[in-house]
Amino acid sequence: MNKDLLFSKIKESAALTDEYLSSIIDTSDPDTESVAQSMRYSLFAGGKRIRAFLVLEFCRLLGGKTEAALPFAAAIEMMHTFSLIHDDLPCMDDDDLRRGKPTNHKVYGEATALLAGDALAIKLFGTVASNPYVTAENALAAVKILSDASAEVGMVGGQIMDMYAEEHKITLETLKKLYGKKTGCLIRAAALLGCLAAGKSQESPEGKAATKYAEGIGLAFQIRDDVLDSIGDVTKLGKTIGSDAANNKTTFLTFMTVQEAMKEAQKATESAKNAVSSFEGHEILCELADYLLERES
Ligand code: IPE
Ligand code: IPE
Ligand code: MG
Ligand code: MG
Ligand code: MG
Repeated sequence: MNKDLLFSKIKESAALTDEYLSSIIDTSDPDTESVAQSMRYSLFAGGKRIRAFLVLEFCRLLGGKTEAALPFAAAIEMMHTFSLIHDDLPCMDDDDLRRGKPTNHKVYGEATALLAGDALAIKLFGTVASNPYVTAENALAAVKILSDASAEVGMVGGQIMDMYAEEHKITLETLKKLYGKKTGCLIRAAALLGCLAAGKSQESPEGKAATKYAEGIGLAFQIRDDVLDSIGDVTKLGKTIGSDAANNKTTFLTFMTVQEAMKEAQKATESAKNAVSSFEGHEILCELADYLLERES
């Protein structure tokens, strides 16, 4: 396995996900078109589609069919995009640049951006529930996974902890918990949705290994995000550099140097790779974990 093959596979799964997403956002009603356009704007602004790739790849590695994984891949990217639209709002991180473009509220205004996020967050559950290629039991399990990953016990819980830590000192242990929620939960949900699309439950040995893998890459992913916010290149990253410092965020760099933080990310990556060592075809998951560690965007 090499990087080029990984990138071509990510590209391929992104194209399939984009095609699917494009088919489900309804822009046909002139009375509601503005919110639909705002949803499309952020959905197709050029995200890396890592979460979609995780869904499709776990499904494939476990012998499932791509058509069963696609509605789940689209749903997780809708969830992720919703979280970013709201994360960028002036009342939260107040950022102007996302995916190399002006943030949603800069283009459509705060009220429409809020509604576009709401619509994405709600619509994705319909997409999951109506997946015709999985059993009703597995569609329900997917709904539960996404709800737990995103609500107060998941991503939203992480976001509230993140805001609290702007004003208060927290420990590194608490920061790791915060990362597990604000970033880790959606990455874990992506891996688990891929398992479900292949008929493997969260509790199955495959589901447990996928969870451990996703927790490792999720922590490494957010540490790398912190590092890039500090020393990244805006033209590659597509986000404002220095946003964390400007918002007085608590990040790994509050506690340690860039080199030390990357060592922690490396450790989490190794633990992720070990978790899937018994998967047939696990090389691609290892290549992905390594890429996420050294990514520049
Ligand atoms: C950014 O996620 C938000 C974090 C969880 C750190 P990504 O870096 O995956 O964002 P896109 O989808 O590629 O824009
Ligand atoms: C965002 O964390 C995670 C969510 C959107 C839930 P960050 O605030 O660090 O993400 P970026 O750096 O703006 O992408
Ligand atoms: Mg944030
Ligand atoms: Mg942010
Ligand atoms: Mg960040």
